[in-house]
Amino acid sequence: MDRDPVSRLIVISNRVAAPKPDGEGGAQGGLAVALSAALREYRGLWFGWSGNRIDEFTGKIDFQRHDGVTSATIDLEEQDVEEYYNGYANRTLWPLFHYRIDLAEYVRSFGAGYERVNERFADTVTPLIDPDDLVWIHDYHLIPLGAQLRQRGLRNRMGFFLHIPWPPARLLTSLPAHEHLVLSLLAYDVIGFHTKEWLESFQNYVERELGGHCEPDGTIHVGERSVHAAAYPIGIDYKEFREAAESEAAQEAFERLRKSADGRGTIIGVDRLDYSKGLEERFLGYRRFLEDHEDWQGEVFLLQIAPPSRGEVHTYEKIRESLDELSGRINGEFAAVDWVPIRYVNQGYGREDLAGFYRASQIALVTPLRDGMNLVAKEYVAAQDPEDPGVLILSRFAGAALQLTDALLVNPYSKEEISDAIKQALDMPREERIRRWRSMNEVVKQEDVVWWRRNFVAALQGEATQDERAAG
Ligand code: G6P
Repeated sequence: MDRDPVSRLIVISNRVAAPKPDGEGGAQGGLAVALSAALREYRGLWFGWSGNRIDEFTGKIDFQRHDGVTSATIDLEEQDVEEYYNGYANRTLWPLFHYRIDLAEYVRSFGAGYERVNERFADTVTPLIDPDDLVWIHDYHLIPLGAQLRQRGLRNRMGFFLHIPWPPARLLTSLPAHEHLVLSLLAYDVIGFHTKEWLESFQNYVERELGGHCEPDGTIHVGERSVHAAAYPIGIDYKEFREAAESEAAQEAFERLRKSADGRGTIIGVDRLDYSKGLEERFLGYRRFLEDHEDWQGEVFLLQIAPPSRGEVHTYEKIRESLDELSGRINGEFAAVDWVPIRYVNQGYGREDLAGFYRASQIALVTPLRDGMNLVAKEYVAAQDPEDPGVLILSRFAGAALQLTDALLVNPYSKEEISDAIKQALDMPREERIRRWRSMNEVVKQEDVVWWRRNFVAALQGEATQDERAAG
């Protein structure tokens, strides 16, 4: 049973995606989806950037209440957005934390803008926080915020959750002022990662670079400071997703896709258009499959849904161009008058439509080169027909691979492995599909977003979680 929370929960993240009154949602990342669900159960507040830009920062807060969630947002200046969001967050930290040191840009003004915006967040949110509130800060945009709040005198319990991978120490040390960034994390009481792998990279950094000491119970000591760091794998709102999958809209989407497939097998991919998602490698792996198995040409197609993201960042413009070119090239090479091998769609869909598309697809290709968790993999599993489920092909470099061990796990850099896995999935007997699906579905259902949030909030409240009690 969930206890009635005695304290309010203050959630702070770059984006605030409380449900909008007109139902507009767009393509939401994992964080937004997970938090809207979690916040509905808690009183409290969700604070962040409105997404708007203004000429001069005012610190004016816009409060809104929808569907049991109060949001409080501020506008940022053009320069803030450029240096903090497009700059340090998405041109420095995002590539570096996804192991793409070749794409990471180290520019001093980005770091300054990042600090400035974190200070602006701290200045505006501090007066909204009561002494008993639990404060839960999310993702790489806001790593120094906890330290900023402490400087303003806040003594609340504070937690930080990272929704992306934590890079190996040897990569992280390429970041100028890396110690400063990591030391700021010590202001929190609890630090959460999706998987043991990201946690271990963090612990390794703390020991190597900061001379800290990590205890088996998750306590980390650096000098006088102690914090609790652990893995809390995020899940989907299983119940809500099943309901979405059974909706009329999902049924219509299912029929639309099945009808247009005209008896052909459907392989689906759904990703924000991001270089970390391995879309080029995926297209090439699928191309390899068409080459290796000519008899399957004309019998299957790949539906890749990829809504554009962070379009002001050059690397994102580039990946978009490459994918336009590559999909066109593969289609030109293999298409017949009545068959196109790749349906490449740069548009986002709502959850109900997606649930219908997932259910209509025999295979999901979820092959990021590196991913903190990946919730598409879990949604695909949740949407399946238990009597005739599809097959999940999953990158071993997604956090989800540590939980969904009955997926067909592949190295996303290897065209051959992707090609072989597609063939294995197409040939897989129904009994095997059911067996694998049941085991994955159990994990997705049990370790859902409610489980994730309870575990993190329990740690934030200073209680040992069930898993930690069992371990200790
Ligand atoms: C990932 C990040 C989130 C982010 C989302 C969408 O899931 O972990 O923090 O909100 O991508 O990216 P965007 O830049 O559009 O917010």
